[in-house]
Amino acid sequence: MRNTEEVRSALSDRILALSESQTIAMAKKARELASQGFDVINLSFGEPDFQTPQYIKDAAKKAIDEGFTFYTPVPGYPELRQEIVNKFKRDNNLDYKPENIVVSTGAKQSIANAVMCLVNPGDEVIIFSPYWVSYEEIVKLAEGTPVPVMGSLENDFKVTAAQLEQAITSDTKLVMYSSPSNPTGAVWDEDELRAIAKVLEKYPQVYVIADEIYEYINFEGKHFSLACVDSIKDRVVTVNGLSKGYAMTGWRVGYMAANKEIASACDKLQSQITSGTSSISQKAAAAALQGGKGAALEMTEAYRRRRDLVLDMMNDIEGFKTYLPAGAFYIFPDVSYYFGKSYEGKTIVDSDDLSMFLLADAHVATVDGAAFGAPQCIRFSFATSDEKLTEAMRRIKSSLAKLQ
Ligand SMILES: Cc1ncc(COP(=O)(O)O)c(C=O)c1O
Repeated sequence: MRNTEEVRSALSDRILALSESQTIAMAKKARELASQGFDVINLSFGEPDFQTPQYIKDAAKKAIDEGFTFYTPVPGYPELRQEIVNKFKRDNNLDYKPENIVVSTGAKQSIANAVMCLVNPGDEVIIFSPYWVSYEEIVKLAEGTPVPVMGSLENDFKVTAAQLEQAITSDTKLVMYSSPSNPTGAVWDEDELRAIAKVLEKYPQVYVIADEIYEYINFEGKHFSLACVDSIKDRVVTVNGLSKGYAMTGWRVGYMAANKEIASACDKLQSQITSGTSSISQKAAAAALQGGKGAALEMTEAYRRRRDLVLDMMNDIEGFKTYLPAGAFYIFPDVSYYFGKSYEGKTIVDSDDLSMFLLADAHVATVDGAAFGAPQCIRFSFATSDEKLTEAMRRIKSSLAKLQ
């Protein structure tokens, strides 16, 4: 029998260089504490707390009964791709054909496909920061060089066109961002994205992944897709999916719209790794999109109420620097006021320490900002009930008051 060390040393450099997802790691710790009998409130989750709407579940049951149990075309059933084309026209005024669409096992796979198909070893990838945890790791897997560019809290964490231009070098191949953003909830408006497009017009070697997975969870109701700017449309890969808007995280359906060449490269890659995503989930996704965004907008109203509730209580907590998240279901305050303070002989050095302190003392799970490229912040998800949010904020306030 080989010992653990021997087996570990056999693992590839590629996997050893990869970090474990911090959000998943925190969820694991919170579960451990809960299994010891503690009443843990989990604000670390990155998913809706709602059930998938019934009409979508019904479509999945029907798909099973009608025998949709075989392999699907790698980029998705033609009728699903047509629904996605219709969605882009209806919601974003974007014209695509089914050949531009690739359906994947979650938006995460769509992003990984696009990065693998566009990035060569050594290419620089500008990542608007704070960023979603997986962007940096996927770029590392593709042997690209992540170049985080940090938005300022004063600008609701939004990276500006000027900041982007400053970061571009002759090695830049790709820019990645999410709007609405995970972890900040920032939404880039049309003017801001048009200014970004103007910069990109000057650098024809640079491509973009615009991650719009939180599109429907937008409290201002105005979403702009970068691909609407004709001069750069061919260089924009728009990623979206069903996980967040339709509360379908477990179904694993995401998709991209891209130039035909990029789409067929992603199709080729996917054909060698996972093939098409689940037949049942695809049928459910087609029904979801066909049903429009009514169910998503209802859930968004609940998120808006929760955002206001959390923000109100958070603004009452000494030292938390906040802003108004315009979308998604996260708030990402600057908590650096507490660094250097102590409780029972333990000093809080960074947001990881503070997040651990909140778990141990308040039994509230959060995610430290370092995982998102911002070690002065902590991410709180408000995708949970009003009661739990109110109780969590109360506990956090009283735990923080212990820090001297
Ligand atoms: C910004 C962002 N993009 C993509 C994803 C992946 O979504 P999916 O569940 O469709 O893979 C997530 C999930 O947390 C996310 O927050």
